[in-house]
Amino acid sequence: MSEGATTELLIEHLVETSINTVTESELAKLLELCFPGTFEGRGYFKQMPHARLLHYQDGAIVGQLGLDFRIIRIDEELIRTLGVIDLCVIPQLRLQQRATAMLDRVAIIAEQARADFQILFADNPALYLQNGYKVVEPAQISWLAIEDRKTYGVIERDMTGTLLVRPTGSRPFPPGEIDLLGYLF
Ligand SMILES: CC(C)(COP(=O)(O)OP(=O)(O)OC[C@H]1O[C@@H](n2cnc3c(N)ncnc32)[C@H](O)[C@@H]1OP(=O)(O)O)[C@@H](O)C(=O)NCCC(=O)NCCS
Repeated sequence: MSEGATTELLIEHLVETSINTVTESELAKLLELCFPGTFEGRGYFKQMPHARLLHYQDGAIVGQLGLDFRIIRIDEELIRTLGVIDLCVIPQLRLQQRATAMLDRVAIIAEQARADFQILFADNPALYLQNGYKVVEPAQISWLAIEDRKTYGVIERDMTGTLLVRPTGSRPFPPGEIDLLGYLF
């Protein structure tokens, strides 16, 4: 749990294999509410994450994020990362630092997991820039293309502006071409 104003928030860290059917269907509803028309009743978008943070209030899940523990490659260097996926909070409880509290928790988990960087993709960087993330510029990235539960090959694209990185320690994010060694989350 993180410090300060967020200590009273209930945020659970669960491995994906421990998520039961009740929680899975609650998650699917939360994701539909937060990302309308995107998840089509599933609790994941392209692939199940390795773990989740589930934020509860009065017994209900009111926020979540997925965690993908991932080795990526930048030029010839292998980097240990913790990826953040599909962060959301229900509309009625937004702007109360709940997403911030979940991101703080991610930073703690990244430290425990010895992940050098927390990484994510976002069209709107505002929340993340306030929480220690920086935009990676330039960001030439290749990844495994998955669409509608089918693998299509490898995509290479300039994703400058959407890749955000928060260092866990003091190491700067290395420059170079980024191979996600998996799908784009
Ligand atoms: C983005 C989201 C998770 C923020 O949750 P929250 O609990 O309201 O966030 P916090 O209260 O901790 O932080 C609020 C800050 O987030 C930023 N923010 C608001 N909506 C945002 C959005 N859609 N994307 C990025 N940042 C956002 C604002 O800058 C706000 O800061 P401000 O009050 O100074 O303007 C929530 O708005 C949400 O679930 N949106 C729909 C799903 C989504 O777009 N998720 C992001 C995927 S990358």
